[in-house]
Amino acid sequence: VLCWFYAFPVYRIPSDKEIVEEVLRQGEVWQKNQTGIDLYRKLLTDCCDPKRMFAVTKENSPMGKVMWYDGEFYHSHTVNNETYAVFAQVFTQLFGIVQSCRCAVVGNGGILRNSKCGRDIDQADFIMRCNLPPLTKKYVDDVGTRTHLVTANPSIIEKRHQNLLWSRKAFVDSMKVYGSSYIYMPAFSMKPGTEPSLRAYYALSDTSSNLTMLFANPEFLRSVGKFWKAHDIHAKRLSTGLFLVSLALGLCDEVTAYGFWPFSVGLDEQPISHHYYDNILPYKWFHAMPEEFMQLWRLHKSGTLRMRVGRCP
Ligand code: CDP
Repeated sequence: VLCWFYAFPVYRIPSDKEIVEEVLRQGEVWQKNQTGIDLYRKLLTDCCDPKRMFAVTKENSPMGKVMWYDGEFYHSHTVNNETYAVFAQVFTQLFGIVQSCRCAVVGNGGILRNSKCGRDIDQADFIMRCNLPPLTKKYVDDVGTRTHLVTANPSIIEKRHQNLLWSRKAFVDSMKVYGSSYIYMPAFSMKPGTEPSLRAYYALSDTSSNLTMLFANPEFLRSVGKFWKAHDIHAKRLSTGLFLVSLALGLCDEVTAYGFWPFSVGLDEQPISHHYYDNILPYKWFHAMPEEFMQLWRLHKSGTLRMRVGRCP
């Protein structure tokens, strides 16, 4: 029998209907494959060294270091007194927690709506979420409440919080829902994102917030981008969710991904919104989410990570 991935050459992405058929064919069957898990941990460690390079630290980015922005050409930041002071020491504490545990990576796909996956997600040892998602009462049953690490794109600071140029209270209050997690910001990906990220750092530290800010290391983001490019993902930029899955594959014992479903219909072939909380679509050519899904599904089928795309039991 021709495998799905060989049946569709890389330059043709299967239609939404074909993907639904393939996923239904596989059903809920999933078997953990330790060899696959060990292999991907090694591949990701060799290419991208997540343990050391995931975030900018005083150790990997000393004073005077030139950091090249990964999201644009010919822009760099030279680490100075101000920026060095806000870099994390080392994140041994974070990796002490993540290693040897079950991680949940929660994407924002509309497939989470009515999934009843909240309890499942909350049972993981380490829970990662993308782009400061809403965790209000309305969504608790579907997405859970606990968070250990959440990404925050500087564009969110701009759109939702007027770039933090005015009052910072609303921002600080809105962050309380993430408890005492790590906030992971790509402060050195695009030049206009650096200042809002630093302002977010100060807004939290000045109010003795329980949250810990980590700035994404642009070298790590670039190396993860290259890794997936070699796996047929050709996009201007990887999606946030795939960065987190890559981190999780490099560190965790077991990875389960929720909310990754970049298609316009669900498994019941009914229309589905892009996010579990709205239907705002991404810029068309920026990400290559369907290609990403195909790679994640390949890893699911090989038992390397588990994808939850249906309702949770
Ligand atoms: O910032 P970005 O556009 O990458 O992400 P988002 O829309 O906030 O969603 C978070 C992540 O969930 C994405 O980066 C994707 O990896 C995943 N996602 C998905 O697989 N399918 C969707 N329909 C929406 C998001």
